[in-house]
Amino acid sequence: MHMLVAADYFDNIIMLHSCESCEQEAQKWLNKEQEAIDHSHLTTCVCGLKGECTTCEDHEEKTTTANKQVVRWNITKENPLDDVVLPQADYVLSFAYLDLVSKDHEMYLKLLKQISSLVKIGGHLIMLGALNETYYMLGQHKFSTLAYDEQFVRKALAKNGFIIERFGKEKSRYNSGLCDYE
Ligand SMILES: C[S@@+](CC[C@H](N)C(=O)[O-])C[C@H]1O[C@@H](n2cnc3c(N)ncnc32)[C@H](O)[C@@H]1O
Repeated sequence: MHMLVAADYFDNIIMLHSCESCEQEAQKWLNKEQEAIDHSHLTTCVCGLKGECTTCEDHEEKTTTANKQVVRWNITKENPLDDVVLPQADYVLSFAYLDLVSKDHEMYLKLLKQISSLVKIGGHLIMLGALNETYYMLGQHKFSTLAYDEQFVRKALAKNGFIIERFGKEKSRYNSGLCDYE
């Protein structure tokens, strides 16, 4: 979904996926294959939030055009990119990701270091995460997430050489039971 937002700001996007099935699905979507999962509900949601009059079809086209490559980011490997060599990026976006895939703080720090190496000197890392979240629900299935606080993430970013230009927090306004972030 974040890709649909990113396409309004970036026109040369490389998508990284840590699940083989996600990587394959993303590729099918970019190739506009017939059996690709229909993401139109997400496009409708993003276009609705923007409130602009571009059609959802145009926005989806813009997004797929901006996406130049889908690459496997295999977090079980020491070098998640394996033999793929990517240019360092001006911007790396990591949205709702590290909290979900890291089983402990050590793994979060290791993955953050690997992600940081994708950012060029002077570049930016834009991260979105959930503070002090312990779980989220997908249907009736409950998945655990890594809980961490603001101090942890600030220290982790500083350790990787980042200067925090902006740190925004949005308090959870819902008590739906679907997740428990603060
Ligand atoms: C909330 S999504 C990220 C959303 C993404 N930023 C976007 O805009 O679509 C979390 C991602 O983490 C991946 N993921 C979750 N648990 C994982 C695990 N244990 N190993 C590898 N990947 C995992 C999922 O495949 C999913 O792509």
